[in-house]
Amino acid sequence: MMLPMPFRTIIEPFRIHSVEPLRMTTRADREQAIRAAGFNLFALRSEDVLIDLLTDSGTGAMSRDQWAGIQHGDESYAGSPSWFRFLDSVQELFPFKHIIPTHQGRAAEKILFTAVAGPGKVVPNNTHFDTTRANVEFTGAEAVDLVAPESSEPSVEQPFGGNMDVGGLDACLRSHPGSVPVVFVTVTNNSHGGQPVSLANLRDVREVCDGHGVPLFLDACRFAENAWFIHEREPGQQDREVRDIVREMASLADGMTMSAKKDGLANIGGWLAMNDDELATSCRNLLILTEGFPTYGGLAGRDLEAIAQGLEEVVQHDYLRYRIRSTGYLGEALDRLGVPVVQPAGGHAVYIDAGRMLPHIPPLHYPGQALAIALYETGGIRSCEVGTVMFGRQPDGSERPAERDLVRLAIPRRTYTQSHMDYVVEVCAEVWARVGELPGYSIIEEPPMLRHFTARFEPVSSTREAATPAPEG
Ligand SMILES: Cc1ncc(COP(=O)(O)O)c(C=O)c1O
Repeated sequence: MMLPMPFRTIIEPFRIHSVEPLRMTTRADREQAIRAAGFNLFALRSEDVLIDLLTDSGTGAMSRDQWAGIQHGDESYAGSPSWFRFLDSVQELFPFKHIIPTHQGRAAEKILFTAVAGPGKVVPNNTHFDTTRANVEFTGAEAVDLVAPESSEPSVEQPFGGNMDVGGLDACLRSHPGSVPVVFVTVTNNSHGGQPVSLANLRDVREVCDGHGVPLFLDACRFAENAWFIHEREPGQQDREVRDIVREMASLADGMTMSAKKDGLANIGGWLAMNDDELATSCRNLLILTEGFPTYGGLAGRDLEAIAQGLEEVVQHDYLRYRIRSTGYLGEALDRLGVPVVQPAGGHAVYIDAGRMLPHIPPLHYPGQALAIALYETGGIRSCEVGTVMFGRQPDGSERPAERDLVRLAIPRRTYTQSHMDYVVEVCAEVWARVGELPGYSIIEEPPMLRHFTARFEPVSSTREAATPAPEG
């Protein structure tokens, strides 16, 4: 039941029980560190980072009860009580017949796509996350993004900007009969601004999938945040418990992949789930090859316990109200400064539109990377480029600009306070004041796939010379 909030300030619904020190650095320290890292923020030592907004994945704080759960971890190879506790709490929210534990989300993707994809196959998704796309393409299949067209209009605020393009999906299924092994919907849509997907959209997608006899899977990493948005924004959902909304989301799908590093509130873990017996058998056979026995997958018993407890905490309304408000707080503050941000803010992150903020840097000189480097050099904030560095390299080896050059400020769960966020806003204001001086970058070394993790960059002096004057404020 929702209780009315008597005060405006939404507080952290916890108090701090143990603390981790942050290491202060100077601008000179940071300039040296980022140069040594080949201007790739993934290559920094995390001790050289002050506020780490690289990802919300596995970086959250666990609760007292999760740490207590860790002590209950039973490390029996097969049939451990920790496995059954994990299984019960996953099936309480996602009542799929088969639950297959994995060490993280991409292991679930790897197993599923090895089983169902391959050359000639096509996998539609509202927007593939980078590892999902890479795992589809690694099998030789094609990964197709089909986000609703109205969601791609950055100036229009959408309550459900992560929705799938239902007409586009129907057309895709018609033009590839027999070649689509599974349709995916990512909730929330991480690579598209962390925007949610509505129940209405999921129902429409389900209907199209049924019409073509194709199964629907959820990439459900941020299922609770998505369900909270449904609870807040979708007509008729305000009186429902989030756990019931989650169950309805699950009931519309035939299976899911999950990274418990997000809405599992754990530091590691994931699972693959489905109703299809035959598919489950082939996935379990692959699981044994790379992850482990089906009652622990790639996890220790203690990890299974932490996830089981995390799933109970993540659907609590007080937690979700605070979580979504803290992201909105940062997004609104940046918007007030005039920094172009994707509006409304996503569930787990605020996305700065670097393409619009740094128009003097062409996409193939990576405005998102340039902004991320500037945020680090200026204030020790580590963020993540979600744009041409991440998505620009095509399977045929060519390079083209991503649809948008974004910089993601991902907020770890239950980790930073409001004053940390106020500091982030101050650093962004400083960068915004001299944005025209920022140089673009070129890539001097990159691997064949997922290049953003390990590529090395160097500044392009011509963009610095061509820079426009900085805006006021
Ligand atoms: C939408 C989405 N899918 C899949 C993954 C992969 O999960 P993991 O990092 O646990 O492998 C992520 C991770 O960030 C994600 O955001």
